[in-house]
Amino acid sequence: MGEIKKLKERNKLIAEEILKRDDFVIVNHHDADGLCAGAIIAKALEREGKKFKNITAKQLYSETIREIQSAGENYIFVDFGSGQLNLLEEFLKENFFVIDHHQAVKSDYEFHSNPFLFGFDGGYEVSGAGMTYLVAGELNEKNKELSALAVVGAVGDMQDYKGRLEGLNRKILEDAEETGLIKKENDLRLYGKISRPLTQFIAFSTNPVFPGLVADSHASSQFITEMGIELKQGNAWRTYSDLSPEEKKTFTSGLIMHLIKNNYSEFRAKNIIGETYTLLKEDLKSPLRDAKEFATLLNSSGRHGMPEVGLKVCMGDRQEYYNNAMELLLEHRRQLREGIEWVHENGLEEEKGFYFFDSGEKIKEEIVGIIAGMLYGSPLVQQNKPILAFAKQKDGFVKVSSRATDDLVRKGLNLGEILREACAELGADAEGGGHKIAAGCRINKWQQKEFKEKLNKKIAETIKL
Ligand code: C5P
Ligand code: C5P
Ligand code: ZN
Repeated sequence: MGEIKKLKERNKLIAEEILKRDDFVIVNHHDADGLCAGAIIAKALEREGKKFKNITAKQLYSETIREIQSAGENYIFVDFGSGQLNLLEEFLKENFFVIDHHQAVKSDYEFHSNPFLFGFDGGYEVSGAGMTYLVAGELNEKNKELSALAVVGAVGDMQDYKGRLEGLNRKILEDAEETGLIKKENDLRLYGKISRPLTQFIAFSTNPVFPGLVADSHASSQFITEMGIELKQGNAWRTYSDLSPEEKKTFTSGLIMHLIKNNYSEFRAKNIIGETYTLLKEDLKSPLRDAKEFATLLNSSGRHGMPEVGLKVCMGDRQEYYNNAMELLLEHRRQLREGIEWVHENGLEEEKGFYFFDSGEKIKEEIVGIIAGMLYGSPLVQQNKPILAFAKQKDGFVKVSSRATDDLVRKGLNLGEILREACAELGADAEGGGHKIAAGCRINKWQQKEFKEKLNKKIAETIKL
């Protein structure tokens, strides 16, 4: 267990300093966790009557820092920054705060809050949104009402991958339950429980993909009726939420069995059940009602160059921006489905230290990591190595995304550290980092071969391949 008192002291120091200043640029990461973090601090500053604006970035590369250095007076970096403290100090002196949960570089910078400094694991115990929520709590106790966003951020970063939220996330969840914002339950963790007819629910599931049923409405309908479950009630198509408790059990075990029969690992198959988090104040039919679906909706805007849409939804819009976000959600899901199909058609290569695919321009660099993560459990890969993916960046660099499993992390694998080291060795412009279980970087085109060799060696050494 980490040192909660010291973490609280640090957050208090940051909150007090924020209260003394004004005119803020909030710089947040583009994914669900980053947008939630950006919205939490925005709401908290709004409450204190401070001036602020949000800038969303896909990564804090050195040129990103250079580009924003005259955007405002004071900066608050959320969900990234811990890996760039030295650069930030160089460009912004003491005019910035970093609230993050990624593995940090060595630094004594005072206005920096990060779980790893106090013995908590930022990989699963608290997210960027969670850390920002804790700082917001030191600004004003009314900010407890932002706890639901902190839960959405954690779920967006898949911090519930062990089956439920743990560590500081659990405390934040309790705040959300106490304030009547969230209810937790054990249930099926697939997209569309409320919004999709049963057939589509299975046929269009991407996480996981159901082999033999994917994109096949006929096969999916047959699969459901063979379990003795009616597809329709009168004229209306039934959804998972319309099923009786008995039917839900039959349906869920049918899906688990199907995955196991199709060579999914038992762990991954059973992982479709776990703790789910319902946002009680949201409309019954809205995807925002479920924390995971809320997070996917945010990724649909942030990772596709429309972060203001997701930020507005986090800040409370349920009209114009919400409708916009619903459209982006369809497009995001389409791209994920096509990306998975592309990998299935083109296959993965197996190297000594990792599985690998290079999607070139076929999969956008912003979502290639999500797709890499979705492959775990599928028959294409085993669980014994991490997965690495390359995608082309618009600026000519190659984006690298990597994903591992909990087991590999327990064996000592630390993807964030390995990528950071490899980039340092490659030199100029190669930059990256992240978590033990999921990390990323960018490299130059001509460095791909050398990069892969370095990774093969480093990974094989750590997990004894
Ligand atoms: O930058 P940030 O910390 O917000 O992102 C973490 C990333 O790690 C997310 O894209 C999340 O989906 C991924 N992740 C994963 N598998 C896990 C845990 C996290 O792919 N088990
Ligand atoms: O981009 P992707 O989803 O693969 O990112 C996985 C994790 O690696 C995220 O937590 C992200 O913040 C981190 N990352 C990083 N530096 C990069 C790219 C990704 O720290 N250049
Ligand atoms: Zn995060």
